[in-house]
Amino acid sequence: MRLLFFILVILCLVAGCDNQDGNIQPIANDKFLIIAHRGASAFAPEHTMIAYEIAHEADVDYIEIDLQMTKDGVLVAMHDEKVDRTTNGTGFVKEYTLEELKQLNAGKWFNEEYPGLANREFEQEEVPTLEEIFMHFGDDVNYYIELKSPRIYKGMEEELFALLKKYDLIRETQDLPKVIVESFNEDSLTNFHALGPALPLIQLFSFKEKATLSHSDYKRLQTYASGIGVNIKSVDQDFIHDAQLNGLQVHLYSIKNEIDVKNAFRLDVNGVFIDNPTFGEHLPQEES
Ligand code: G3P
Ligand code: CA
Repeated sequence: MRLLFFILVILCLVAGCDNQDGNIQPIANDKFLIIAHRGASAFAPEHTMIAYEIAHEADVDYIEIDLQMTKDGVLVAMHDEKVDRTTNGTGFVKEYTLEELKQLNAGKWFNEEYPGLANREFEQEEVPTLEEIFMHFGDDVNYYIELKSPRIYKGMEEELFALLKKYDLIRETQDLPKVIVESFNEDSLTNFHALGPALPLIQLFSFKEKATLSHSDYKRLQTYASGIGVNIKSVDQDFIHDAQLNGLQVHLYSIKNEIDVKNAFRLDVNGVFIDNPTFGEHLPQEES
């Protein structure tokens, strides 16, 4: 199957069907990326420093960080627009100043929800800012950052771009890109592309049924995206190869068990968002 795919890729390159925009940043095709979904969220409270630490120790390719923004314009790591699910507070992130948000506990909920995984250390966790994450990990990890809810956060893209510049994270590397930016919101990604074309962007899709993209979808994606992120239950091999032949990497979310990660590898996708980063340990990394 992999041989067939490589033949198709070569035919594609000869036919010139890869990304058309010279500013689209490639992501190495020869590596199956393990992306720690919300940190090592199977083991620790998502989007906390300890969840990212565990992912880093598991030697993942990327730590995934969903972004929300406080009332005073600070980017913080959180999946939901509201703090209710993952802290002991209530209400919208946008209604909290950073100082107020920092009073919340970001780990107790996990111990209550998953007593078998509970750890008293988790109860020391607070909501991290993106800047704190950059200061903590520096160059030691690669970052896969999602612009969440950009419609409600004016200037979110500019703020992310400014932070990436401040920490010298917008640069070409010989290995994997240091930063990948993702969003379900196309406008947010095209705005970001205008700011920082040196960064690879992933357009997320949430297909309700079978994944499908039209010729015009691909043409549009090729102007700003290096790949797509798609829910695993919606895809088949034809869809994945079609996307790849159109010059797009395919990353699947969200992998919850070892069978799914092996299936994803067999499907020739380019990477997976996984809650348990150790699932990837036994996968071959070189093409056979
Ligand atoms: O970003 C990929 C995947 O994380 C999208 O789902 O809801 O976990 O952000 P979600
Ligand atoms: Ca995400």
